[in-house]
Amino acid sequence: MTDIVLDPAALAAHLAGKHFIDGKLVPAAAGATFDVRSPATGALVAKAAAGDAADVDRAVASAATAQIAWAKVPARQRGKLVGDCARLLDAHKEELSRLIALETGKALRTESRVEAGVLADALHFYAGLGSELKGETVPFNPDMLTMTIREPIGVVGAIIPWNVPMMLMALKIAPALVAGNTVVVKSAEEAPFAVLRICELMGTILPPGAFNMLSGMGPECGAPLVSHPKVGKITFTGSVETGKIVSKLAADKLIPVTLELGGKSPMIVMDDCDLDRTVAGAIAGMRFTRMGQSCTASSRMYVQAGVHDRFVAALKAKVDAMKMGDPLDETTDIGTIVSQGQFEKVKNYIAIGIADGGTANECSAMPADAKLKPGYYVRPVIFTGLPASSRVIREEIFGPVTAVIRFNTFDEAIAAANDSEYGLAATIWTKDLKTALDGARRLQAGFVQVNQNLVVQPGLSYGGVKSSGLGKEATLEAMLEHFTTKKTVIVNLA
Ligand code: NAI
Ligand code: MG
Repeated sequence: MTDIVLDPAALAAHLAGKHFIDGKLVPAAAGATFDVRSPATGALVAKAAAGDAADVDRAVASAATAQIAWAKVPARQRGKLVGDCARLLDAHKEELSRLIALETGKALRTESRVEAGVLADALHFYAGLGSELKGETVPFNPDMLTMTIREPIGVVGAIIPWNVPMMLMALKIAPALVAGNTVVVKSAEEAPFAVLRICELMGTILPPGAFNMLSGMGPECGAPLVSHPKVGKITFTGSVETGKIVSKLAADKLIPVTLELGGKSPMIVMDDCDLDRTVAGAIAGMRFTRMGQSCTASSRMYVQAGVHDRFVAALKAKVDAMKMGDPLDETTDIGTIVSQGQFEKVKNYIAIGIADGGTANECSAMPADAKLKPGYYVRPVIFTGLPASSRVIREEIFGPVTAVIRFNTFDEAIAAANDSEYGLAATIWTKDLKTALDGARRLQAGFVQVNQNLVVQPGLSYGGVKSSGLGKEATLEAMLEHFTTKKTVIVNLA
């Protein structure tokens, strides 16, 4: 079905109970399903297919067969097909936005449409890179023509999370496909439908088996995908804990893994910053509109003493003015937390922060609408006065909870920012160029921005250091390093 379907419940019903294998929507081999519920109302969205090892076998077999022919399609033609997918998905932006809003609770206007908008951008970026899959000639010996060739790995397994599933999937599948691999994706149990719809649409353009998708639980469906003997590469985005499990399973087969894991991204605010701009950056950086469910959320805000109180007051006023509500309502700024598990986790961290002596400045207001009563809404919290040892400052919360921490000297702020197991993103807010560049050099993070806080951008290397991950995404090098192998060929001409 390729009509544009703006009713997300109808679209979910159409996708219910299905995987996408060998170019078709098919039920799980065992016929098992699990419920996907709206995090805003608790109502059933639809039942999703619960995949297991038998489904993994079917999907990988299809991908392995398709890969032989796919690798023979000229690289620029593969890119062109991925570009055609981008155009089709762009035409379906609004329906994808509505479906992702329904299943994840992300606000339509501020979050879901933004994600659906950048999805095609990631595919377009890689679509143009087919002819960049180049090797080298090497001056090894005048009597020998020596060259390297970039070849696809084969079948790539991709495991994705629920927070920005469409965008994060695009960053994996686009380079994998353009490089000549075929793909099996395991979607997150909280958000199986919008990504499945993407498969169905792309299936009208790509050959059967090039791109397959399974839904299901991590241990039952994700783990057998990683362990499958015909999967030659795993690319994963999710928690540190699961990333380690995936990495160990992959190590048993000695296959490469790319891991994009959590974060506890610091924001360093200097006395000389432009305060209005910095507060707007704090709102964007903390992803309050997404209930803070972002691996790059600015969840540690180090603010210099001279501007600290004004910063906290202005930030609180701005978050207070944001409206929590029905994710599908155009006037809603902030939607819900994705699931009961995440909701409990966030509430537990708020209790920990209060027990640690922090002041929990609660912002905004609970939605008034009675139908949203069962929804996973939490008032965003700006903590002040927490000790550096608090778990609220040290651990990834993945919710609308940030901590503002007062500092005096720049050196003190850098040391505190780097005192973390994570190293994904960081920002510095100052008018002084020397401070900005010094900080950019000294901060342990994969992505440092000065006086702004953009999300991942195609063409800019993205990924963390320390426990935040292994390997970068979103660039040409990412495609070459993570989705191809290099073969050396020597022709003896003597
Ligand atoms: P998770 O890491 O458990 O889930 C991510 C994906 O891994 C899902 O598709 C899941 O089904 C799959 N998975 C789970 N167990 C697996 C296993 N044994 N083998 C193979 N695949 C498996 O993350 P979860 O439970 O959704 O969230 C927990 C925490 O992780 C969050 O509170 C947050 O702190 C962090 N997180 C970070 C994300 C990021 O963007 N870096 C995204 C989502 C969560
Ligand atoms: Mg988990």
